[in-house]
Amino acid sequence: MIAIGCDHGGYELKKEILKHLEGRGLEYKDFGTDSTASCDYPVFAKAVANAVVSGECETGILICGTGIGISITANKIKGIRCALCHDCFSAEATRLHNNANILAMGGRIVGAGLALKIVDTFLDTPFSNDERHIRRISQMED
Ligand code: RB5
Repeated sequence: MIAIGCDHGGYELKKEILKHLEGRGLEYKDFGTDSTASCDYPVFAKAVANAVVSGECETGILICGTGIGISITANKIKGIRCALCHDCFSAEATRLHNNANILAMGGRIVGAGLALKIVDTFLDTPFSNDERHIRRISQMED
């Protein structure tokens, strides 16, 4: 199950991502927002992050205008490794090296075509399980 959330700046891109997830037959839980009306991104960042740390969802996707505010907020929750990615190399590397559990993007930064490739890369890349990466990830939580 994929947790997904956005603010007004990410709403249009989230709609494209939801269609894409449905096309791939992937299950998701949409935590809002549900329109382009102005709203506060921390509300949605916390809802998605809590769904991931609780185990309700295995992974998450967060979108705001830049991806910055929503990723900063998510990363304040213990156990969250939220990666702001606007290219496929970063999306692959953050799964392999950081075992990132939430992908963040900016709906005002990246077009839908690239964003969907980034989503696929993030979802389809497993963690490397390399000892050095496990060690570094555990140091994040010290
Ligand atoms: C909203 O205008 C904008 O500040 C928000 O979507 C995001 O970019 C914050 O980091």
